[in-house]
Amino acid sequence: MGLPGEKALVYPPRPELLPAAHIPSLSHYQRMYQRSVEAPHEFWGDIAKEFYWKSQPTGPFLNYNFDVTKGKIFIEWMKGATTNICYNVLDRNVNEKKLGDKIAFYWEGNEPGDSAKITYRELLHKVCQFANVLRSQGLKKGDRVSIYLPMIVELAVAMLACARIGALHSIVFAGFSADSLCERILDCSCSLLITADAFYRGDKLVNLKQIADEAIQKCVDKGFSLKKCIVVKHLCREEVGAAGTCSKSPPQKKLCQEVQEKKTESSKRLRPKTPWNPAIDMWWHELMSGASTECEPEWCDAEDGLFILYTSGSTGKPKGVLHTTGGYMIFAATSFKYVFDYQPEDVYWCTADIGWITGHSYITYGPLANGATGVLFEGVPTYPDVGRMWSVVDKYKVTKFYTAPTAIRMLMKYGEEPVKKHSRKSLKVLGTVGEPINPEAWLWYHRVVGEERCPIVDTFWQTETGGHMLTPLPAATPTKPGSATFPFFGVVPAILNDSGQELEGEAEGFLVFKQPWPGIMRTVYGKHQQFETIYFQKFPGYYLTGDGCRRDKDGYYWITGRIDDMLNVSGHLLSTAEVESALVEHPAVAEAAVVSHPHPLKGECLYCFVTLREGYELSQDLTDELKKQGSNRQMLGSRQGEHR
Ligand code: PRX
Repeated sequence: MGLPGEKALVYPPRPELLPAAHIPSLSHYQRMYQRSVEAPHEFWGDIAKEFYWKSQPTGPFLNYNFDVTKGKIFIEWMKGATTNICYNVLDRNVNEKKLGDKIAFYWEGNEPGDSAKITYRELLHKVCQFANVLRSQGLKKGDRVSIYLPMIVELAVAMLACARIGALHSIVFAGFSADSLCERILDCSCSLLITADAFYRGDKLVNLKQIADEAIQKCVDKGFSLKKCIVVKHLCREEVGAAGTCSKSPPQKKLCQEVQEKKTESSKRLRPKTPWNPAIDMWWHELMSGASTECEPEWCDAEDGLFILYTSGSTGKPKGVLHTTGGYMIFAATSFKYVFDYQPEDVYWCTADIGWITGHSYITYGPLANGATGVLFEGVPTYPDVGRMWSVVDKYKVTKFYTAPTAIRMLMKYGEEPVKKHSRKSLKVLGTVGEPINPEAWLWYHRVVGEERCPIVDTFWQTETGGHMLTPLPAATPTKPGSATFPFFGVVPAILNDSGQELEGEAEGFLVFKQPWPGIMRTVYGKHQQFETIYFQKFPGYYLTGDGCRRDKDGYYWITGRIDDMLNVSGHLLSTAEVESALVEHPAVAEAAVVSHPHPLKGECLYCFVTLREGYELSQDLTDELKKQGSNRQMLGSRQGEHR
């Protein structure tokens, strides 16, 4: 964060990018921006023409109400138009744009040397096959499918197959606990769960199916019986052979062997076999083996639901953010194109997990809509060593790289040597997301990783916004370390004081947005009133981000952090209420209060104060138990910097 009164450094765009850049100057950006906010229907209407629509809107291009005093909040972009996002990101690229043989994803496994690639045509075929599988299981438009998978190609296949048949995917990050998965399954009462046997993250084995089974049992205890569960055989996939997405490789075989060996040890956690419930479980590869590679897409209304993604809520319960089809598609695609200045020869790598919005918009939908080649990374930045990121960059000649400030801060700790051991000369643009980046980390990223030739795009946005809100554009925006700079196309930010007045010029206050952009969430799934209360009640007429923000004398925006009961630990939003309610579930705890505290690596951390019940004494064991209890609602463990 920049400090008031501090003389901020300004980094002009580098000349190398200019000749091919989509937006080669600040004035070019300003002209386009003006049009995007003054005539959004024209601006986005022109962009929409680049996509395939089965039919055109039946009413206005944009219709909305942002003002709770005037009635129900709603946002509709292109209502009545019909399309299919899967068709747009796959069929159109293969058939119209002749990109069938282009690599859609390089898959880089946790273990170096365990890798695979998949072309657009192959991806389309797999998605069609799995869409047929879903249909054969009785899934149809509007049904919800929970997906609990590691970072493997099947995750992208599963989400796109849902989109193809108009089912809503609800992806649950594979680092979440059984409690979190159960809560999310229940909230959207999904018809089917897709998971995997197990996977390694770094040197840690995650027995995913076992956790999924615990979640399913917890759902049963709460009166909800999941009907079907499809299981990808990932870790021990050599048995699957060609039907699996990734062929066997020596390192992966070695892992399997290790698991087998560990299984024979006494450890209870490593069961000898993937736990199996024949009443609901089905192997992915068995279902896929007979499925056709052709599948007619479901033509969906632009305003039909595309996915639900849960994000922490200050009430203590995660909120099911609902995104719809048409607006999200054009917003994810357009922001990807301009913010990373996408060029056809790019190899793009976003280190996020698809289980977060960053992965939805900027691993799957945005890049694929542009016909981009992406890297899908299963591992962590520190395994087998802290140079992994840069070795992957060199392996695939990555040109555009997108990660989280926490990851940068963590790697900074190990100094420059592990970075400099690798060439990184392919890199052209570096991005960050998820939390404020401190100028020190920004400067290290710029100087050491990018060798001062790569612009940094510090992108501010939220699960709710679907795509970038405040961001530099690589060849247009002079950057200041720690500032997310200016609004993206279609985004009208304002800074309000406590009484809801808009502040002009240099100012600090609540960051809000004044009009809808196509990617804005449409509701909290099944809880529209909550949507209105959280985002629109406090300042009628504005979308409230929940973040504090400062605008400097040059009009640059600086996010100052959350101003509600949320906190950001390693780029993960948590609510203090969520952790408090988990703590009081422990028999030893009478009361709990949780507050945020600055942390040099993680941005923020939690301080938890508890009052113990009669008969309990504070001890190291109890402290450890409470720590576990507090994190149980969320993650399986701390995995800082890996996700975004
Ligand atoms: O507080 C802001 C912070 O992350 C929040 C959104 O978190 P989530 O919905 O999980 O989505 C994260 C990935 C888009 C915001 O309200 N945040 C996100 N990006 C930035 C940021 N804070 C400062 N600078 C950013 N670039």
